[in-house]
Amino acid sequence: MPTRRRFTLTQYLIEQRRRFPTASGDFNALLLDVALACKAIARTVAFGDLGGMIGSPDAVTTTVNVQGEEQKRLDVISNDYFMQMTEWGGHLAGMASEEMDHPYQIPATIPRGKYLLVFDPLDGSSNIDVNVTVGSIFSILRAPQDVIDSGRDVVEADFLQPGTQQMAAGYALYGPTTMLVLTVGQGVAGFTLDPNLGQFMLTHPNLRVPEDTHEFAINASNSRFWEAPIKRYVDECLAGKTGPRGKDFNMRWIASMVAEAHRILMRGGVFMYPRDTKDASKPGRLRLLYEANPVGMIMEQAGGRASTGREPMLTVKPTALHQRIGLVFGSKNEVERIERYHREPNAYKDDANPLFVERSLFRD
Ligand code: AHG
Ligand code: MN
Ligand code: MN
Repeated sequence: MPTRRRFTLTQYLIEQRRRFPTASGDFNALLLDVALACKAIARTVAFGDLGGMIGSPDAVTTTVNVQGEEQKRLDVISNDYFMQMTEWGGHLAGMASEEMDHPYQIPATIPRGKYLLVFDPLDGSSNIDVNVTVGSIFSILRAPQDVIDSGRDVVEADFLQPGTQQMAAGYALYGPTTMLVLTVGQGVAGFTLDPNLGQFMLTHPNLRVPEDTHEFAINASNSRFWEAPIKRYVDECLAGKTGPRGKDFNMRWIASMVAEAHRILMRGGVFMYPRDTKDASKPGRLRLLYEANPVGMIMEQAGGRASTGREPMLTVKPTALHQRIGLVFGSKNEVERIERYHREPNAYKDDANPLFVERSLFRD
């Protein structure tokens, strides 16, 4: 017998909707469709090699997506689940995905609705083959009014809305347990999939990111490409108790941003995939619309912060569907410190911080 009565995702959404007595219910229905897609992906991922989706070379497709990255078979399957589970409900005007070059049109046989769904169907897919946590990330926007009124096909420009416009954002995590973490603009709630019931149960009603941390995450192999403010920040963390921060730091790198976001939500930390000089054609590694903005909304709703280093992530006006951007998020005081370092990089380069000049582990 269960010892505690828990809310399901459906009950949580009904409670949230009571704040808007005139709401049609479309929004909740769409979120439940997204949750269903995540459950389907969770089951597929859980079968691992037994499902024939990973491992042997003949089971891996070698297509390349618009990002120029190799698509794993599970990337494609996860993308299909998102489309299949959400297109039929009549709630969507269109969708866009990391794995699709162009916006996806809702087929003519299905009614069109007022929302846009934007998603990374499988984040961290380099980790699939090694059985490390991956996840799905999604964002819901309202379609422009003329799209809603006319039911016309969506175009790229319809999706180029700043993150402040997001109606909801969330991610699913396929780890030791499957979780769904969601914000509808009133804080952040975490749900754990009960494998017996097949239901997401509310286990973390009000997730808050601690304002301070001594844990950071960055791919240090890129250090020679970092800009001065990031070098300074990391150098100071590495200097630990003996440096200007006066405390020791710990480092983590999972290479699934969604898993790092979750760790940071649970116990604080800062994640950086900053703009760097590695490839002039790519201003950052991660994508604004389906990675940085949804995670940014979740962080801000949980009392954390998300930034490009130079400006709040959620105020960036997107210029392209698959736009990449430098991303820093997590514990508020650390992100604000990194932003401060970006405002005063020259002070550091000169002689404000002798650590960089004398003892940097990452000195050019
Ligand atoms: P995706 O699998 O959707 O392409 O995203 C992978 C991203 C992100 O999850 C992770 O933080 C980063 O790529 C890993 O980068 P490195 O390869 O530099 O570790
Ligand atoms: Mn991704
Ligand atoms: Mn992906």
